[in-house]
Amino acid sequence: MARITAGVATSHVPAIGAAIDLGKQDSDYWAPLFAGYDWSKEWIKAERPDVIVLVYNDHASAFSLEIIPTFAIGCADLYPIADEGFGPRPIPPVVGHADLACHLAQSLILDEFDMTVINQMAVDHGLTVPLSLLFGQPDEWPVRVVPIAVNVIQYPPPTGERCFKLGQAIGRAVASFPEDLNVQVWGTGGMSHQLQGRRAGLINQEFDNSFLDRMTENPDDLRKIPHIEYLRETGSEGIELVMWLIMRGALGDHVDLLHRFYHVPASNTAVGHLVLRPTPAP
Ligand SMILES: [Fe+2]
Repeated sequence: MARITAGVATSHVPAIGAAIDLGKQDSDYWAPLFAGYDWSKEWIKAERPDVIVLVYNDHASAFSLEIIPTFAIGCADLYPIADEGFGPRPIPPVVGHADLACHLAQSLILDEFDMTVINQMAVDHGLTVPLSLLFGQPDEWPVRVVPIAVNVIQYPPPTGERCFKLGQAIGRAVASFPEDLNVQVWGTGGMSHQLQGRRAGLINQEFDNSFLDRMTENPDDLRKIPHIEYLRETGSEGIELVMWLIMRGALGDHVDLLHRFYHVPASNTAVGHLVLRPTPAP
């Protein structure tokens, strides 16, 4: 049977992708950021996941403001790289796992999560920057991906509680897929950042580090955070953190912390990164 072996959380700041594509990883500005992912790059080489269920948000690349699904699942075989205004990033297209994705879509919808099924979609920095951070610049991605796109762009986004429960449902769905697959679930976005308005540039290190603590030690506390608290404490874009809760919900009640990293700033964003392992049953 398929099994979830690990969860990864990471910010997906677009400037990180540009730094990789332009070969600036070793510059004074970027080197400390990329150093925080060195452990994870070695770790994932050894883990060799077959599939990543990658939770991210589209930034008006595949979906315009005309159609905004709250939760969408990609069931395609291949995802081209979106042109976000400067041409598509020079990276390989993302290969899907249509069988697992269709199984997840069926399982989640019958489990009362009304997923929008996407059969054709370009993927933007929300999905590709995390792949680049963990896998570098390969000719082909060494893993297949099931994209789960979450609306955190247009009010109202889903609650953290709803996201956590979707993660739990993803956990049940993966566990009922008959093929023997090593599956990871990734939650991306965050941490505190605000891109516009009078508080543009807001970063809240105290809240972010508390959030990182609670992802491991007390996720039930995170499930209750209302939208207004995200807005107040993490700025207008910090709501992306609800996507981390989908990953956390998929891992089960208890996790072991394998790696933790926090860095300020990348562009105008606080970057957080966790690698978690579901704690084996005693
Ligand atoms: Fe984002």
